[in-house]
Amino acid sequence: MRDHFELRDGDLAGRIGRLSVPRAGVTVETPALLPVVNPNIDTISPARLESEFGADILITNSYIIKTNEHLREEALDVGLHEMLDFHGAIMTDSGSFQLAEYGEIDTTTEEILQFQRDIGTDIATPVDIPTPPDVAREQAETDLEITRQALADAEAADTGEMLVNAPVQGSTYPDLREEAGRHADATDLDVFPVGAVVPMMNAYRYDDMVDAVAAAKRGLGVDAPVHLFGAGHPMMLALAVALGCDLFDSAAYALYARDGRYLTVRGTEHLEDLDYLPCTCPICTEYSPDDLRAAGSKEQEQLLAEHNLHVTFAELRRIKQAIRDGDLMELVEERARSHPAMLDGYRALLDHVDQLEREDPASKGAFFYASNESAHRPEVARHHARMDRLTAEGHVLLTEGGIPSGDDFDATWRVVPPFGPFPRSLSETYPLTAEVPERLDRDAYEQAARGVSRLVEENPDAAFTLAHDDWPESALARVPDSVELESLSAVSERLADEESDDGREEGDATGLSDE
Ligand code: GUN
Ligand code: ZN
Repeated sequence: MRDHFELRDGDLAGRIGRLSVPRAGVTVETPALLPVVNPNIDTISPARLESEFGADILITNSYIIKTNEHLREEALDVGLHEMLDFHGAIMTDSGSFQLAEYGEIDTTTEEILQFQRDIGTDIATPVDIPTPPDVAREQAETDLEITRQALADAEAADTGEMLVNAPVQGSTYPDLREEAGRHADATDLDVFPVGAVVPMMNAYRYDDMVDAVAAAKRGLGVDAPVHLFGAGHPMMLALAVALGCDLFDSAAYALYARDGRYLTVRGTEHLEDLDYLPCTCPICTEYSPDDLRAAGSKEQEQLLAEHNLHVTFAELRRIKQAIRDGDLMELVEERARSHPAMLDGYRALLDHVDQLEREDPASKGAFFYASNESAHRPEVARHHARMDRLTAEGHVLLTEGGIPSGDDFDATWRVVPPFGPFPRSLSETYPLTAEVPERLDRDAYEQAARGVSRLVEENPDAAFTLAHDDWPESALARVPDSVELESLSAVSERLADEESDDGREEGDATGLSDE
């Protein structure tokens, strides 16, 4: 039972939570962004991160502090919070990243955890092994064994009130990631970073990042706070939150600024290529691109870093509101359009739809159909699963619109691609109130055809007619042979004829209007 992390609201596998950090005496709302503070480089001061950007947690590196005599003495003397002049929660990394970068470091988990405790760290990190992508399986396994030992050493250490990270590694092997997640979850450690995704993100391998995180999440319990180590580009935050990541750290804001790069939710721009600044942050409203280019390099770096951080925090607020509104998937879809690699990441997310479905709340605002990929959203999978519990009797007309049933039919069911058929009485229930465009994509019809097949399979004694006007061949090919196909106009005409023959009041001539 973890009592330091409380879930408040959710959408997909994303959630709004509260992480209590006892040593700092604060509670951090998640998803949270931890700006990376390099203790050697003063880009934006921690005091300003707190007062101007609203950061209530940051991350710095205890190994850098420990290996610099001046910083070490000051941190040990006055403590990290006073040294940095920051009153929120402070997470520290352990030197693992330096280990990955330079091949060796001069410390151990036991020693660096003690040091982190001594300098006043609130959330500490053991020395895990960030195994890069695509290594031989044997190396991933050997590295994982060392990380396991680091977690065991951390469990054995006297860490007091300090929370401790349990990083999840496993390179690009989903089964190892899942196993590592399960192992970390079973320790008594507190926060669960998914590690070594930086090389994937630097290479725009968002699909691999998604698979790694999804696998780790399968091993971790729902109640585990998950940190995505080294991830802080605003473009990918919605995707990562949708997967169930709660904490992010951004060095990107400062690293990119040093390089003259300007972050947006649609990707990274070079300042030299910008004629306009597409942002309303204090920097972008005060300065023009020419002003920024004319600034001295130090000032330019500073201003770009401020903008970069503003857009990142703004995106995080947008994501939290989307969770509250239940339309996080719409935001993920929007972001997926900004770069082909993001689209691959989004499609990889949809490959894990069953996993998302387990955590996704059953009822939300409105389902907005935004693209072909929308046909693969969790709501569609859930609706198909629900088909099993729907009973159809007699001769049922399946139609997109709401044609009144004539004598020919015992019932009219609606089928709104990408959803399968459903009784009209469910029309007003989520997600069947979906807003769909006039022109739907092939996948939407194919999904609807799958639903028809399932309904037919589950109700062998009923007969079905499908009014199918706009359905593409690829979808009709998936409809079982026993289903009679008729065009919508033919059905409408026949029903209208029957009605006038009967001398009954003539209904809506087309029968197309929804009830
Ligand atoms: N920073 C970015 N990636 C990692 C990682 O895998 N482990 C640690 N400790 N820090 C990181
Ligand atoms: Zn800006």
